[in-house]
Amino acid sequence: MIPAKLRDALALGLALSCGQALAAEVTIACGSVGSDVEICRKMTDEWAARSGHTVRIFVTPNSSTDQLALYRQQFGAGSGEVDVLMVDVVWPGIVKQHLVDLAPHAREARKEHFPSIIANNTVDGKLLALPWFTDAGVLYYRGDLLKKYNARVPATWNELTATARLIQDGERAAGNRDMHGFVFQGKAYEGLTCNALEWVASFGGGTIVEPDGRISINNAQAAKALDLAASWPGNIAPKNVVSFAEEEARGVFQNGNAVFMRNWSYAWVLAQRADSKVKGRIGMTVLPAGDDAGKGGRGAATLGGWNLAVSRYSKNQAAAIDLVLYLTGKDAQKKRALLVGSLPTHPALYKDADILKSAPYYGQLLDVFNAALVRPSTVTGDKYNAVSSAFWNAAQSALGARGNGTDAVRKLEKDITRVRRGAAW
Ligand code: GLC
Repeated sequence: MIPAKLRDALALGLALSCGQALAAEVTIACGSVGSDVEICRKMTDEWAARSGHTVRIFVTPNSSTDQLALYRQQFGAGSGEVDVLMVDVVWPGIVKQHLVDLAPHAREARKEHFPSIIANNTVDGKLLALPWFTDAGVLYYRGDLLKKYNARVPATWNELTATARLIQDGERAAGNRDMHGFVFQGKAYEGLTCNALEWVASFGGGTIVEPDGRISINNAQAAKALDLAASWPGNIAPKNVVSFAEEEARGVFQNGNAVFMRNWSYAWVLAQRADSKVKGRIGMTVLPAGDDAGKGGRGAATLGGWNLAVSRYSKNQAAAIDLVLYLTGKDAQKKRALLVGSLPTHPALYKDADILKSAPYYGQLLDVFNAALVRPSTVTGDKYNAVSSAFWNAAQSALGARGNGTDAVRKLEKDITRVRRGAAW
C-alpha cells in the first residue's frame, strides 16, 4: 500500500516529467486588422478543443511597424508573455535571435508550402516561422462609377489620376462632398514602404536596394514616381491620407467615399459583406503600370504576408509549436481562406474547388501574386527596418510636397548608405 501523500507526489512527478501532457495556456498574438481577432479566436478554439490546451489572445497594434517595436521591447526584456506571434514576411532577418528553430518539428510540413516563403523564413539554416498566408497589393475600384462615367479600369497611374479626378469632381458636384478619387496607405510606416515601392517599381525605378546589395533608389524613374504621388493628397486623395494605414483606407472606400483604393486582398471579403455600402459594386484588379510611354515599368504589387513563430522565451514551447503547426496546416489555411479570403501558402489549395468557388479572383490574380515584388529584406537583413523607415520617411516628405522627387531620392541614397555602414550589407 502506498501512502496517499506519496502517491500524489509520485503522480505529480510523473506528470511533470511528461510536462507537455499537462494542459498549458498558450498566448498568441495574431493581428488586429479586419477580422483578424475574430478568425483567430475561432481557429484557436478549434485547436484548444482538440489539444486540451487553452489559448489567450494578445491583441496587437494593427500596424506592422508598431508590432515590430512591441516585440523588440518584449524580446529585449526576455519576456515570455507571448508564446506564438505573427511574423511579417520582412522580419525574419530582424528578429532571428528570438525565435525557436521550427525545422526539427516541421520536416514534413515545410515541404507543403511555397518554397520561396520557406526560403524567406530560413535564416542561418534555421526555419524561424511557418507560412500562414501570403498577400500582394491590389487595386480596388467602383465598377458602378466607372460605368456611370464611361471610364475604364486604369492601366497606368496617370490614367488612374485622371479618372479619379473626373469621377471625384462629378460626384462632388452631384452632392457627395466627401467623395475622393483614391485612397491608399500614406502614413509613415511599413505600409507606405509597400505602396511607394509599387509606384517606384512600376515606373522602372527598381526596388530601393537590389538583390545584389546595390542601393538603386537614386534614379530619375523613382523620382518621377514620387512626383506623381505627391500630386495626390488634397487633389484626388484626402489631405490626411498621410495618416492612413490599411483600415483607414478601407473605411473610406467601404463607406462609398472613394473611387479607387490600394489595399491587400483581405479588404475584398469585408467590402462585400452585408454591412458594406459598396457591396456588389466593386472590382479588384492589378495595380497600374508606371510610364504611359511604356518605357520600362509595368504594374507592380508588393509581396506581403504573415508567418507564425514561437518565441524563444516561451515557457510553453511544445504546445506553442503544436498550435503553429495546426494553424499553418492545409486544413486550417483552407478554412481561413473560405472565411476571410486570405491567400494560402499551400500551392495545392489554389486548385481547391471550394476555394475557387468562394474567391474567383484567386485564379484571376494568381499571376500578380506569383510575380509580386519582394521588399529588400533578405539582402539588408537586420538593417531592413532602418532602410524601410528611411524610405517611408522620404516618401512622406515627397507626399507632403516638402522637397521634390529628385531631392528626395538623392537624400535617400545617402541615408541608406549611412544605414549600411561600410561597403557591404
Ligand atoms: C500587410 C502585409 C505585410 C506588410 C503590411 C504593411 O499586412 O501582409 O507584409 O508589411 O501590410 O502595412
